Amino acid sequence: MKTINNKLFLCDVSAEELIKKFGSPLYVYEEDKIIEQYNKLKNAIKYPKTKIYYAAKANTNIEILKLLNNQGCCIDAVSPEEIFLSKYAGFETKNILFTGNNATPEDFKYCIKNNILVNIGSIAQIEIYGKLNPNSKISIRINPDVGAGHHDHCITGGPNSKFGIYFDKISEIKKAVEKYNLKIIGIHQHIGSGILDTSKFLLAMDVLLSAAKEFDDLEFIDFGGGIGVPYRPEEKQLAIKEFGKAITEKFSNFCQNYGKELYLYLEPGRFIVAEAGFLLARIVNKKSTPKHNFVGIDTGFNHLIRPAMYGCYHSILNASNMNTKEKEKLVVAGNVCESGDVFTQNEDGIEDRVLPKTQIGDIFAILNAGAYGFSMASNYNSRRLPAEILVKNSNPRIIRKRQTFEDLI
Ligand SMILES: Cc1ncc(COP(=O)(O)O)c(C=O)c1O
Repeated sequence: MKTINNKLFLCDVSAEELIKKFGSPLYVYEEDKIIEQYNKLKNAIKYPKTKIYYAAKANTNIEILKLLNNQGCCIDAVSPEEIFLSKYAGFETKNILFTGNNATPEDFKYCIKNNILVNIGSIAQIEIYGKLNPNSKISIRINPDVGAGHHDHCITGGPNSKFGIYFDKISEIKKAVEKYNLKIIGIHQHIGSGILDTSKFLLAMDVLLSAAKEFDDLEFIDFGGGIGVPYRPEEKQLAIKEFGKAITEKFSNFCQNYGKELYLYLEPGRFIVAEAGFLLARIVNKKSTPKHNFVGIDTGFNHLIRPAMYGCYHSILNASNMNTKEKEKLVVAGNVCESGDVFTQNEDGIEDRVLPKTQIGDIFAILNAGAYGFSMASNYNSRRLPAEILVKNSNPRIIRKRQTFEDLI
């Protein structure tokens, strides 16, 4: 993004022009930024047998999946539906890993039929899968007793987490797989999402590597995703080169002792797509209460739920008036019939935000909307889902049409 003549440009197209052409509200993604993020991570890890499994849940738009497939990326899928979309986008089944949780027998059957390796997170589910597909290869998800993330709801390791098999249950795992002659070729963990302090990630890595010594037939170790990006102005980018170096060192040392060069997998979602995405919306209302000045926009938590769900911070720019020195203290509210439909929130509820002066008709750009934005959107209040646009240089193209009224039936 950049500013030209007081206006926000996404690649070489102004936000105002995008809204004029495609309507409001609108999800817009900068294509080059997605590729840049993928390469930044890939290049930071010098271990040669590294594979990036993009966590499709962050954003499953087919054109974004195709873009990542063209880069040589693989897929972390959490549902048959994500497998279906990934295959549709051109991913080979050998490059898709299914990490379900509370997977149904039907989910497993879908994987078996499509030749997708499954990553199993409970002893009971090993039993279910073993009965369906004995003598096969599997991966197992470990809970390393370490969790991290930007919000409690996003911490997926430790005793409060429903995910994975606790790291101290290795003898039970071995018993369950022996019963069905399953071969564990991969071991996995994902400790949470939105991690900017890498110490917990590296600590959990140690736990997983220690568990990995117990399994003789491993082909890969998957350390999950969770790599964060800054959302608040005071947050810093993660030192990705140092992080990559630490991962590379730990993993290379492990492989030397294990006696085999295993594949190293990572499953980033947010890191690849968050910063590439913008939710553009029009200001349609202004009003005051004794406590706050509200500005109303034509989108809501039905289109971007993170502030309402987690109290997450998303930076907001006035794309129509970028350079103004005049500021206002505002609460930015959506158009859903819920008082919690507010984009300026913290974990305790709504908050004022100092924003550039606004007027009705201006376009707001909500930043970092590329991950867990559209993919968590809903039709609540029966509002239609917005269109999605992928922009490269001065060429925007529709990668998902705005829903029609008929789509709601
Ligand atoms: C198993 C698994 N892998 C990877 C991810 C991606 O996480 P992130 O988008 O934070 O990188 C998730 C997110 O929930 C996950 O559940």
